[in-house]
Amino acid sequence: MWAVDMGHSWKLLRRILYVAIMMTLWFIYTTKKQEKWWLPKQLINHQNSHTKGRLEAPRATWEGEDALNCTAVLQGDPGSLKKARWLAQNRDYRRKVKLTDEYYINATQDCRNFRLTRGYATWAFQEEVDFPLSYSIVTHHKVQNFERLLRAVYAPQNVYCVHVDAKAKASVASAVARIASCFPNVFLVSRPVAVLYAGWTRVQADINCMADLLNVSTAWRYFINLCGQDFPLKTNLETVRRLRALEGANDMNSVHIPEHKNWRVASVWATVNGRFQSTGKAKAPAPVGLPLMAGSAYFVACRGYVHSVLTDSRVQELIEWCKDIYSPDEVLWATVQRMPGIPGSRSANAKLDVLPKDAVVRLVLWVDTFECHGHFVREVCVFGVADLPWVVGHHHLFANKFDVDSDSVAVYCLEEYLREKRLAEMASEGKTSVPIPL
Ligand SMILES: *[C@@H]1O[C@H](CO)[C@@H](O)[C@H](O)[C@H]1NC(C)=O
Ligand SMILES: *[C@@H]1O[C@H](CO)[C@@H](O)[C@H](O)[C@H]1NC(C)=O
Ligand SMILES: *[C@@H]1O[C@H](CO)[C@@H](O)[C@H](O)[C@H]1NC(C)=O
Repeated sequence: MWAVDMGHSWKLLRRILYVAIMMTLWFIYTTKKQEKWWLPKQLINHQNSHTKGRLEAPRATWEGEDALNCTAVLQGDPGSLKKARWLAQNRDYRRKVKLTDEYYINATQDCRNFRLTRGYATWAFQEEVDFPLSYSIVTHHKVQNFERLLRAVYAPQNVYCVHVDAKAKASVASAVARIASCFPNVFLVSRPVAVLYAGWTRVQADINCMADLLNVSTAWRYFINLCGQDFPLKTNLETVRRLRALEGANDMNSVHIPEHKNWRVASVWATVNGRFQSTGKAKAPAPVGLPLMAGSAYFVACRGYVHSVLTDSRVQELIEWCKDIYSPDEVLWATVQRMPGIPGSRSANAKLDVLPKDAVVRLVLWVDTFECHGHFVREVCVFGVADLPWVVGHHHLFANKFDVDSDSVAVYCLEEYLREKRLAEMASEGKTSVPIPL
């Protein structure tokens, strides 16, 4: 009896053990499957083709039903935003999507493969070919931000001058140089400078690119300046149409310098003991026979405006005068914009200021104006993915700032947004497209 019982419980134990092992295996299998199941595939392939197949999905902790849906994110759908925010903060995900300087240096050894796998545009609509643009992109770090931006604005008929800060890390300089070397229409500025925040060299960087851009191509119609942390909200076709509608005018805001900013132009500024500060010496009056204006450092200008910046003697005098004020980028462009005879300019007699909201070029969320779901850097919101519904609700061509290191899902969803719009353009414009072989 006892022996029979022993045999029986041994059998029972084996059966329990067997079931437990099977259940563990099943549990491991389903959780693994679940991880893969919710992670959007296109997210892996689209951003990180070099890690294709090797990417391990992070663990999902929400009650989600679908993979990340950027359309819903941009519409502000709470469930999708929750997933997107979770993903943006997930440590594994962030580590996996990060592309290092070394990655770019290596991947650009095979340019054809780089352009292909990173998904750069290889064709354009005739309407776009007929209206080429030029860009100055100023960057000093975070190569991946720059490259994602370049890819988003890239079109084979445009020209791109890239200014890498003279004091940038060697790996940044060589990664950007390698990326530029993969495109016939992307080049490094011939005279890089060390850019100092709020100092003259920020303007000089753009001026040096302007000179190079005028020199490399006689075709482009408009000039747009960007920094590495901008991102477009419009496709190239949309931008072309918007700029054509300007009918030769420039797009930039320029307002009479408000009282509280007068200190910026009232005294001589200089770098003293490594710090950029006022010397206390009073500044001579500006050499132009019109009031100084204030505006944004970022703008859209027609070719003639750019030509004037480099050749008009009144502008040269103003440039000399601007070299020792605080933040001359916010004075020079806006003041030139009001000079009589400058192409695309707005008459100095025009009573109305052109406020930032009237200019289409740049959307910036300043501190104390609206809720920022990312974080602030120098009073400017670095957008989080939850800011996208607000961002895409605007008419601007570009938004500032984005940072793939702090929220790469925000950039990813904007990429998807632009891609969707491009697909829609293809559906409606398809017949007029022309391939532009590199
Ligand atoms: C994504 O969301 C949009 C808007 O809510 C919806 O119309 C679309 O069907 C969704 N796509 C997928 C694949 O679920
Ligand atoms: C360098 O790039 C090549 C393809 O361009 C790739 O096969 C190789 O694995 C890369 N090496 C490293 C260290 O990433
Ligand atoms: C324009 O480019 C040519 C060479 O292509 C060069 O010799 C010349 O100095 C450049 N001019 C300017 C203004 O940069």
